[in-house]
Amino acid sequence: MTKVGVLTSGGDAPGMNAAIRAAVRNGIANGMKMYGIERGYEGLIDGDIYEMDIASVGDIIHRGGTKLQTARSKRFMTEEGLDKAVMMIQNFGLDAVIVIGGEGSFKGAATLADRGINVMCVPCTIDNDMGYTDTTIGFDTAVNTVLSAIGNIRDTSSSHERTTIIEVMGRSCGDIALYAGLAGGAESVLIPELPFDLNAVCMRIVQGRNRGKKHNIIIKAEGVNIETNELADMIHERTGVDTKVVVLGYLQRGGTPTASDRLFATRASFKAIELIRDGASNRAIGLAGMEIVHYPLKEAIEIPTRPATDFLRLIDVLS
Ligand code: F6P
Repeated sequence: MTKVGVLTSGGDAPGMNAAIRAAVRNGIANGMKMYGIERGYEGLIDGDIYEMDIASVGDIIHRGGTKLQTARSKRFMTEEGLDKAVMMIQNFGLDAVIVIGGEGSFKGAATLADRGINVMCVPCTIDNDMGYTDTTIGFDTAVNTVLSAIGNIRDTSSSHERTTIIEVMGRSCGDIALYAGLAGGAESVLIPELPFDLNAVCMRIVQGRNRGKKHNIIIKAEGVNIETNELADMIHERTGVDTKVVVLGYLQRGGTPTASDRLFATRASFKAIELIRDGASNRAIGLAGMEIVHYPLKEAIEIPTRPATDFLRLIDVLS
């Protein structure tokens, strides 16, 4: 009987639970034995591995976080840790491992593939920083969380006639900022991929004021190379407008996954099981338009991210 392990690794993202559920249930439907691996590669090294049945993934499709826990494993990056992980996979007789996570987790999976382990990778990160797939699981939910924050902040920003800088996550990718900024009607969006012009940002604030605008929302991606409070001081100095900072932080990682994140997670894991059943190995599963697609893992990792920088032009015209 085919035995398949499932793990979630790296930063948690809404939709991980939906991905776990689909893997476990479709695996069992295909006559496989399914095993949960706790805390990502950490649990793999420690052998925290247990069999999962259909009921074990009940009531999780709508929940953020991950039932299997997650971790960023430093030990797995060492030769000793990797050896132990491979040994555990062999001890438990796992024929394949489904890795649900982001870029770092995929790279970890590739090192397992180099040791002859069959890995199937499901892209799950709020950052949307994986070039081979149109989107990543968790991104849509995170953008909606930021949108809801923008709405609240806009109310108070207008009431006090302030500028507010909202710092969002995304590591070195500006997509959360770009999508939320465009959908939320932000005045300016600052991303790590392109330099920004402080004069233009300040000019926009002053011009907005002059035509009676009460608020000014700036979305700044965390990867932009300037400290957010420092930026607020500079804007205040140049415009004379009271400028506040809101760092959304981990708020963006939690919450109930949106329909599109649940659908992608469910379809991607379902496909991972079909690929294992059909004898495929070492694939990265993604979304191209409405289609679930899959590529050789190592090729997929090499494809550069394509941030939605064209959104900046729209934001510029529309805000
Ligand atoms: O990759 C997801 C993410 O939330 C990034 O946006 C952020 O830079 C990072 O993880 C934070 O990592 P940690 O959970 O280790 O603080």
